[in-house]
Amino acid sequence: MLAFVLSRLRTVIQKAAHLPERLAPSSLRLMAGAFAAAAAGLLAAAAPAFAHETLKLDAPKPALASTPPMGWNSWNKFSCNVSEQLVRQQADAMAASGMMDAGYRYIVIDDCWQKSRDADGNIVADPERFPGGIKALADYVHSKGLKFGLYSDAGSLTCGGRPGSAGREFQDARQYAKWGVDYLKYDWCSTGPRNAEAAYTIMAKALRESGRDIVLSICEWGNNQPERWAANVGHLWRTTGDIFDGWEGSKAWALGMVNILDLQAELWRYAGPNQWNDPDMLEVGNGGMTTTEYESHFSLWAMLAAPLIAGNDLSKMDADTRRILTNADVIAVDQDPLGQQARRIWKQGELEIWARPLKGGEHAVVLFNRSGMPAGMSVDWDQLNLPAGLKADVKDLWSKKVTRHVHGRYSGTVASHGVLMVRITPVL
Ligand code: GLA
Repeated sequence: MLAFVLSRLRTVIQKAAHLPERLAPSSLRLMAGAFAAAAAGLLAAAAPAFAHETLKLDAPKPALASTPPMGWNSWNKFSCNVSEQLVRQQADAMAASGMMDAGYRYIVIDDCWQKSRDADGNIVADPERFPGGIKALADYVHSKGLKFGLYSDAGSLTCGGRPGSAGREFQDARQYAKWGVDYLKYDWCSTGPRNAEAAYTIMAKALRESGRDIVLSICEWGNNQPERWAANVGHLWRTTGDIFDGWEGSKAWALGMVNILDLQAELWRYAGPNQWNDPDMLEVGNGGMTTTEYESHFSLWAMLAAPLIAGNDLSKMDADTRRILTNADVIAVDQDPLGQQARRIWKQGELEIWARPLKGGEHAVVLFNRSGMPAGMSVDWDQLNLPAGLKADVKDLWSKKVTRHVHGRYSGTVASHGVLMVRITPVL
């Protein structure tokens, strides 16, 4: 009997917590909140272990991202202008352009693919933009040897005003599994007072029980210190607001590339296989930065062990864009199996050194020059905790030049807004 009462109570609490914002004027929300809080107190007093169970993830997180996910997402270039034709075109281009050979796998439709819910509450794709339906599109993407991703939101509405998943997490996860979804980006608009960890845990549980392996990309913009809890819940988590296609500055809720970079400097300790900080998607090829700046953006994201999610039009890449996005040496740093995110080990004014250890005793180093003029820079072996007398081979990952048996330090000239990115291999 007690179990029955507690289970009813739990359902009421869950419903109260998931009332869609549209249907819940603030007074109602307050009442629901107060009731939920009182009921939760009762529950906790009666059976603390049971109350806790609502947040427990029984199944372990599937190990789907031993290295940072690589792919393409529609948002940075196309925003709400998504369609089945666009997705097919981008999948074709990923396979034909060398991107797939370079390691890119996921084709992710961001916001605005959804239209409504049917009488049973199932999410419905926009029939005009996706006349063939999501399943056929996922099948097409899979037929190319690629993986397929979708976007939803933990609130009542997505950021683009489409139906969110609040209160429908299990139903949506089952639908994604039926469609063949491999990756879910899960956003944070219209969530009101929801607790982020709890909200993302519900979707994580739903995905784990869906019968399909689905990567969970948490996107709450770093608002609730996701680095402290998200590793148990998802495979990657956004650490900031949105990126915009520019070197520096802020525009509404979006930040320039170097502003985002600065917010990553202290986060290295939280990253590792299957748990990645996500400084947002790439802007390489979208036109707002110079080629040198895009090389810096790509190099720094690789140093951060960031997910490499291209955000440009893959069907119209110029030679530089393709060269940058498919630089195998830089990608190998991003995908290094040790999974150690770079630290900023030195900074003086507008000059910085970022470094990360790689598997097998190698190191990746970026000498970064934010200033308006070229700068001579160097990294000393002891800054990398290597013996000063050590000899190492140093490969410049952009020019491809290898310098053999370098002693003690590596020096070079770094272009304005540019990087020197090297891989240091001790000679034993
Ligand atoms: C938020 C996210 C973006 C994008 C948009 C879609 O702003 O942070 O990455 O998904 O929503 O509306």
